[in-house]
Amino acid sequence: MKIGTALTPGATRVMFLGSGELGKEVVISLQRYGVEVIAVDRYAGAPAQQVAHRFHVVDMTDAAAVKRLVEQERPHFIVPEIEAIATEALEEIERDGLATVIPTARAVRLTMNREGIRRLAAEELGLPTSPYVFTDSLEGLAEAAGQVGFPCFVKPIMSSSGKGQSMLLSPADVEKAWAYAQEGGRVQNARIIVEGKIDFDFEITLLTVRSLNGSGDVEVCFCEPVGHVQQQGDYVESWQPQAMSPAAMAEARRIALAVVDNLGGRGLFGVELFVKGDQVWFSEVSPRPHDTGMVTMITQAQSEFELHARAILGLPVSTVMREPGASAVIYGGVDAEGLSYEGLEQALCIEGAEVRLFGKPISYVRRRMGVALAVDENTDKARIKARKVAACIRPVTQA
Ligand SMILES: Nc1ncnc2c1ncn2[C@@H]1O[C@H](COP(=O)(O)OP(=O)(O)O)[C@@H](O)[C@H]1O
Ligand SMILES: [Mg+2]
Repeated sequence: MKIGTALTPGATRVMFLGSGELGKEVVISLQRYGVEVIAVDRYAGAPAQQVAHRFHVVDMTDAAAVKRLVEQERPHFIVPEIEAIATEALEEIERDGLATVIPTARAVRLTMNREGIRRLAAEELGLPTSPYVFTDSLEGLAEAAGQVGFPCFVKPIMSSSGKGQSMLLSPADVEKAWAYAQEGGRVQNARIIVEGKIDFDFEITLLTVRSLNGSGDVEVCFCEPVGHVQQQGDYVESWQPQAMSPAAMAEARRIALAVVDNLGGRGLFGVELFVKGDQVWFSEVSPRPHDTGMVTMITQAQSEFELHARAILGLPVSTVMREPGASAVIYGGVDAEGLSYEGLEQALCIEGAEVRLFGKPISYVRRRMGVALAVDENTDKARIKARKVAACIRPVTQA
């Protein structure tokens, strides 16, 4: 394996489709190896664009536009950073040998759609999941909810970050859930999944890397499990390691391995699992770094972003955790442009604390604008500390 020099004809070029805060950290890792990075998003000034060599503003659901850009930039690797991408363009690019799609075009297509990944995990691989039914109508939803039982979740098949997702406690909630799912879907598509609620003790993200070892063979490595709390479909807090029984850990790894080996390719995956005692259920998987995994920026020698960068390039990885830690999200708190952030001096006086601000040009009340990170002797202490650090940061609007 060899890496060229950025901005020369021999450069190793990586194109990001989606340029959020998770992509930004992967770009920074790639920059450290002298890789040439091109960052694409639907708006200018997105976090990863601010640290890339070049950027483009493109509608990434437009297959022709994506193909045109790839032909123009000729990247060696294409790294999808968001779910809403014209995956047919990626499959064509991969088939034509134009670029390597990370991890694979098929993985990106299957995971952008809840139906693709759920049917693969449950029906093809036989992995344990919540009971589920797919349907396209209000009547279908009423029937499906009866089948899987209450409480249950309704989610548009094409959505993320909890958009259009709700929990139904009884048949009285069916109509409202249907209407909400129709508003929240990423594309105009009535199709939804109805999922029985799993009464878990805790949920984890098992960050799993498919990379090449020093001899060039594919190797799968697992990070220590990341525990997290979700509110309104978004993660608010995460920590590492999440303690779990040896049996649950073995089962979690078995499930993650089956999923990532089927999806194939190279890269880091965030495998979301529900755990109750020794029992583990597969929930979903991101074929890329996971928001809850931001905690690894402070807990691991190689963060999930560095792991992704190395896996992309075909370099060996280490998933060693250095010390327990936690992350807490910093929200915008206001709808405004060009926020300033106060309180960093208080936050960074706290021993073992770090802060990342993403540099997003526009803030919304519930938009994630930064993250507080903390290490401590155990995750309970680290969680309290991370929350305290996040509370120090005060986003303010420019006068
Ligand atoms: N079947 C379920 N049982 C219990 N909790 C669930 C279930 N489905 C979703 N949740 C809760 O909602 C969160 C978001 O659901 P998820 O399917 O991961 O959607 P998203 O793609 O928006 O992340 C999960 O992390 C979990 O906390
Ligand atoms: Mg999720």
